[in-house]
Order: sequence, then structure tokens, then C-alpha cells
Amino acid sequence: MAEPTHVLGIDIGTGGCRTLVIGLSDGKVTAAADASYPLSTPAPGWSEQDPADWWQACCQSIASAMQRANIEPSHIACVGLTGQMHGLVVLDKHHEVLRPAMLWNDGRTEAECADMDQRIGRERLIQITGKPALTSFTAPKLLWLRAHEPAVWSRITQVMLPKDEIRRRLTGVCAIDVTDASGTSMLDVSTRNWSHEVLTHLDLDPSWLPDVHESPTVVGAITPNAAKQTGLMAGIPVVAGAGDQAAAGLACGIADDSVISVNLGTSGVIFAACQDAPIDVSGSMHTFCHAVPHTCHLMGCMLSAGGSLQWYRNTFCPDLDYDTIINEATSVDMGCEGLSFAPYLTGERTPHQDASLTGAFHGITNRHSRAHFSRAVLEGILHGLLDSIDLVQQIGRQPTHVRMTGGGARSATWRRMAADIFGLPVTTVNVTDGSAYGAGMLAMVAAGRYPDVSDCMTNIIEETSSIDPQNHDVDRHTAWMQAAHPRKD
Ligand code: XUL
Repeated sequence: MAEPTHVLGIDIGTGGCRTLVIGLSDGKVTAAADASYPLSTPAPGWSEQDPADWWQACCQSIASAMQRANIEPSHIACVGLTGQMHGLVVLDKHHEVLRPAMLWNDGRTEAECADMDQRIGRERLIQITGKPALTSFTAPKLLWLRAHEPAVWSRITQVMLPKDEIRRRLTGVCAIDVTDASGTSMLDVSTRNWSHEVLTHLDLDPSWLPDVHESPTVVGAITPNAAKQTGLMAGIPVVAGAGDQAAAGLACGIADDSVISVNLGTSGVIFAACQDAPIDVSGSMHTFCHAVPHTCHLMGCMLSAGGSLQWYRNTFCPDLDYDTIINEATSVDMGCEGLSFAPYLTGERTPHQDASLTGAFHGITNRHSRAHFSRAVLEGILHGLLDSIDLVQQIGRQPTHVRMTGGGARSATWRRMAADIFGLPVTTVNVTDGSAYGAGMLAMVAAGRYPDVSDCMTNIIEETSSIDPQNHDVDRHTAWMQAAHPRKD
């Protein structure tokens, strides 16, 4: 039999499934393939997908990636999984899916979040799970099913998250990793296991929940049936994997609190690793288990980061590309001559925890041109992200620099603005494949290529550029906060 030479990293995302074939010897991506699936919104604020669509796309993307890589199934040493977090899949006693999955961006469970606060106490829930109850998370979705779909509720015997449902179809094993489990509102982040206290207060059956594993642990192997459907070889090991944010943290090399990452996509995610499990009792900064075993990470999420720039371009200058908008903005000085932008177009998670917040331009005068408005949007997004970086510092972490990833990191000009506004060097890394690559790194560790996840990160992830702050002025953030922060009066 051929010596295994590659691993797979598979990401069950919101828009589709991405499979990477990664070389074990050099960590290089040999081939990649995507397959998309639809998202349905049967009622305002609802967001659902059919797990059968994930499975079909997963089989298709594995087959395409393997074909592009032009390697034999026996060359695959291990499979790593990641995916959209927080989604709820419910199964009956025959392991049939009972209804469409309710996703992380489904907002129907506000009443259930309030109910959780009442039953457990908001502060106690934050202390145990590392975050308050939010509509994104899994537990409020279960409570919603109990209240609204009793016929489904009465048949549930198993609760799964998206990537774990795919693992079940690949291996027949029901399992979850610590990072995804810590996004359910049912895990105790200090013991890294289900919280008996939370489950008791919510009157939820612990036997419905899969066993929890550290991310690089092998939890199953490809079944003969899954081998037929995917073209993989039966018996290949599959690791526990990680939620998409923790996997992206691995692919950015975030192992300790000396460096934090800012993932600048539609949303903006601030990610800081920690050896302990610090808790922000205000509930603004959330604590999750990290994919580096026995460590945690802090996470802040700005809802409209790149999304604000996209809205601005589509609304005010649809004929310009992003590079032109960013270059034009550099003709104006930092601070935009008093014009500022509040980037709360879809409410805000961190730090304001308020879904009803709205965006604004403040301080408009007849001196302001389009370039001022463009710059105000770019700066407003960065100031919003700095709010989260400040929170990380208030929790006692002192990062020496910020690694930027995601679409927003492609512009060196925007990265320069970021260094000046954050007052920290801003760097980029050699890996740009994000979560799917992080899943592949877990598979490389399980395959024995690296002794542990930290060693894998140290060997693979390198910084490729660094920009030092040149024009940092703390007063500028204070001025932006005075103009753009929501007023409490
Ligand atoms: C993380 C989060 C999203 C989803 C979908 O808390 O809500 O990143 O995992 O990507």
C-alpha cells in the first residue's frame, strides 16, 4: 500500500463546502475545491440549511479536490474537519435528521435567550460558558424547538453541530470538539465538558449531547459506505476538528497572547489565545476553548466590518473598485477633518451587545469630499475593531502586534491605517486558506507529522509582511468614540 503523503482539510461553511488537499511534507495546498448549497429563510430572521445538502456538497468537493490533486485515495493519511459554528441539527433514534438545521445567523430565539438568563442568571451563565446567551448559539435553539415544535422535540435523541453531522456521515461516530462545544452555551469552558448545572437549569437531556474531545484527537474512521460516496478509502482516521474561528486562529498561528488576529471579512473577528480561561463578566468579549489542547481564546465580533465598506461602495460609488476607493482615501489626512463613521449597520455584537444599533456619519461640513467619506468608513471600521482590542488589553493581555487576515488584509494601505489606529505593528502570514487549512493542520498533527498543534503552527505559519505604526495618536480614538459610540442617554 502507498505511503500516505497528504491530508484533507474540509470546511462546512455557510455558503458552501471547501476541501483542501495538503501535502504532509511541505504543508502546501496541492488542490482545492468548493461546492455550494442554498440557505433558506422560511420566516423573517430565520436561517436554515438542509444537512443533506452539506453532505452532497462535501462528497462533491472531496471528489473534485482529489481529482485535481491527482493522487490515490490511499495517499490520504487523515481528514480534518471544521465548519460554521453554533448551528443545531437534531436526529431521531434511527439517526434520521428531524428538521432543517437552524444556523448561527438565525435570530428567532430572543425570548429563549431571556429565558436562559432567568433560569441560570446572566452572570452565572457568563461565568460557566464564557459568554451570555445569544441568538446565534445552540442552546436557545433547542429551547425554541421545545416551545414551538413539540412533535419534533418528542423524537430527539441526538444533538449535533454542522461539521459533526458530516463526521457522523463519514464515520458513524457522534462526537464534538471543545471549540464547537464551547459555542453551544452548554459547555463549561473551565472543565472543557458539558455543564451539568446549565443542562439541569434548562431541563435538557445530557444523553442527547455527543462526547467532547480536544481538537486533534482521532475520533473515528471513514466507513465503507462513506468511502463509496466520497471516493476516500475506508479506515482513514478523522479528527475531532474545530469550529471555523478556532481553525482560522490555527491557520494564522495564534497560540499565545503575544499576538492577536483580526480577520477582516464581512464581519470583523478579533481573536486572542490564552493559557487560562479569562472571563469578561460584562459579556462583551467571549471566551471559547481553543483548538490548541487545554488552552482558550477570547473572541470579539464586529458585525459590519468589510460589510460596511461593501455597503458604502454599493450605495455611493458602485463604479469604483475597492483599491480605487482606498487609494483615493489616502489623499485625505487621518481623522478626515472631523468626519467620522459609526459602523453599526447591522447592530453590534462586540463591544455594544445591541442588535438595534444603527450606523451614522458624524461631523459633515462643506469641506468634506468623497475621499473624506471613503476614509471615514475605512477608519470607522478600524476604530470599531480597536474597541475589541482595547477589551482584550483590559482583560490583562498585552499583544505586541496584530496579524490581519481576510479580504481586508489584502490592501497594504488599509493595513497601514490599521497600524496607525491600533498603535501596534500589523503583520500578514503565509497561509491565506483560513479555516479549511486549520482543519488540515489538525489532521497533520493526528497523522504524526508534528508532535502537537503548537509545533505545527511554529513550523508552518510565517509572517510575510509587517507595518509599524508611524502616526498613532490615542486622542483620535477618543474623538471617534465621542462622535460614534452610541449614547446611553
Ligand atoms: C462565530 C460565528 C461565525 C460562524 C459562521 O461565533 O458566529 O463565525 O461560525 O462562520
